[in-house]
Amino acid sequence: MSLRIAWVITGGGSHLRELTEEILRLKRMYGIKVTLFLTKWGYEVSRLFGVLPKLKVIAPGKYYEEFLVEDDGVYYIGRLNLGRYKVVIIAPATSNTIAKMVCGIADSIASTVFAQAQKSNVPVIVMPTDMPGEDGLMETEIPCSINRDVCMEYNCNVCIPMAKCPVKAIELVDGYPRINYKSCIGCEVCSRSCPYNAVTCWEKVKLYPRDLDVENINKLSKMKNVIVVSKPQEIISILKDLIMNNQGKSET
Ligand SMILES: Cc1cc2nc3c(=O)[nH]c(=O)nc-3n(C[C@H](O)[C@H](O)[C@H](O)COP(=O)(O)O)c2cc1C
Repeated sequence: MSLRIAWVITGGGSHLRELTEEILRLKRMYGIKVTLFLTKWGYEVSRLFGVLPKLKVIAPGKYYEEFLVEDDGVYYIGRLNLGRYKVVIIAPATSNTIAKMVCGIADSIASTVFAQAQKSNVPVIVMPTDMPGEDGLMETEIPCSINRDVCMEYNCNVCIPMAKCPVKAIELVDGYPRINYKSCIGCEVCSRSCPYNAVTCWEKVKLYPRDLDVENINKLSKMKNVIVVSKPQEIISILKDLIMNNQGKSET
C-alpha cells in the first residue's frame, strides 16, 4: 500500500516553492498519497507563491489525496486517530501556528491536526519559518513586487507586465503599476516580461527572529513525537526512509 502522509501548509512562504517541487517529485517517483490541509493564510500564501497548480497535482481530490482548506468544514481528522497517516508534516509552520501548538490551542486546521496527531501517537515533522540560521537570522522570500523607482525612471507608455498579466493583477495607482495581492497568482509573467527588470519575484531577505518565537520552537522540539527541521531536504530524507521501510513491509 502507498505511504500516506498528511501535509499541513500554514501562511508562510519560506521554502514553500522548494518543498512543493520536492514532494511532487516524491509523489511521481513513489506514488505516495498526500492529503493537504491548508490554513486560510496557507491557501493565500500558496497562491501568491505560485504553487497552487502543483499542489493540486499533489492532492487532486482523490481518496487520501484531498485538498482541504480551512473553513471548508471537512477535515477527515478521524483518520489521524485511526493511524491512517504514517506521518504529519507541518511546513512551512508560521510562528502563529507554532505558538498555538506549544500552548495546546487547537482552533485552526493546522493546530487541530497537530493536537490530534499528538493524541494518536503519530509523528509530526515541523519546519518553522522563523528558525534562526547560523548567523542568528532567518531567511524568507518576498512575493512578486514592482520597484516603483524603476517605473518612474522609464515612465513607460504601455506597461508590458500589466498588459500580459493573465489575471489582471497589475493596476495603475497614482499613474504607476502596482500588484494587487488579492489577485496575484505568482506566475512570474510580470517579472519575465518587464524590459527594465522592475518586477522581482522571490527576493530573499534576512529577518530577525523574535525571542518568543525561538523559545516556542525550542519547546516544540522537546514535545513527544515531534521532529523540528530547518530545510525541505531534511523532510525529504525522512520521507524517503519511510517510503523504503513501507516498501519493505509491503513485499514481506
Ligand atoms: C506573503 C506572506 C508571507 C508570510 N510569511 C510568514 C512567515 O514566513 N512566517 C510567519 O510567521 N508569518 C508569515 N506571514 C503571516 C502569517 O500568514 C499570519 O501570521 C497568519 O495569521 C498565520 O496564520 P496560520 O498560522 O493559521 O497560517 C506571512 C503572510 C503573508 C501574506
